[in-house]
Amino acid sequence: SKLVICDHPLIQHKVTLIRDKKTSTKDFRELVDEVATLMAYEITRNLPLQTTTVETPVAKTEAKIVAGRMLGLIPILRAGLGMVEGVVKLIPGAKIGHVGLFRDPETMQPVEYYTKLPTDVQERQLIVIDPMLATGGSAIAAIDSLKKRDCTQIKLMCLIAAPEGVQAVQEAHPDVDIYLAALDERLDDHGYIVPGLGDAGDRLFG
Ligand code: PRP
Repeated sequence: SKLVICDHPLIQHKVTLIRDKKTSTKDFRELVDEVATLMAYEITRNLPLQTTTVETPVAKTEAKIVAGRMLGLIPILRAGLGMVEGVVKLIPGAKIGHVGLFRDPETMQPVEYYTKLPTDVQERQLIVIDPMLATGGSAIAAIDSLKKRDCTQIKLMCLIAAPEGVQAVQEAHPDVDIYLAALDERLDDHGYIVPGLGDAGDRLFG
């Protein structure tokens, strides 16, 4: 599987602002949304195209369009919701499925509390979305849940990850490419990414 760090200068700049504890809720939301859009540009780079005909004011010509409405976005609740709109801006035809997981504060194990997926989810290329990849437990559980429903084309998109989380996802799901805005140093004893950005869900929603 591929690990792609989306390190466009604008992404790096915005991630620095996102990390800053002085950044307000309003700015945090806007920046997460913007980085999601910029990452979506990178993650859709290899979308298949098909040929169509278009009539310009000057001539009729063959031209390319993206083949079909084939994407599905799977935000992991809650924090994944903060990145969905930013991706939808570029891919308005995407369907959206929700997977609700929280991390038990004692065991750090993910607990699934809600799952609602588009009816044709198996036919779509899916992007699982979560700002944080810490131990990797949540992403692995979300991907498990998709694979149980016969989904096969899955990518993972996170703002910030710890090496431990990347490794865990790669071991559990070697077929899933991972896209990050930044790869951080490590996890602390509470499973927080260091330096990270704190708790993304809390900073987005309180
Ligand atoms: C956070 C974060 C990820 C998960 C990452 O969610 O948004 O979903 O933890 O940790 P992991 O890689 O160790 O599983 P949290 O459980 O705080 O829920 P929330 O998004 O609802 O705040």
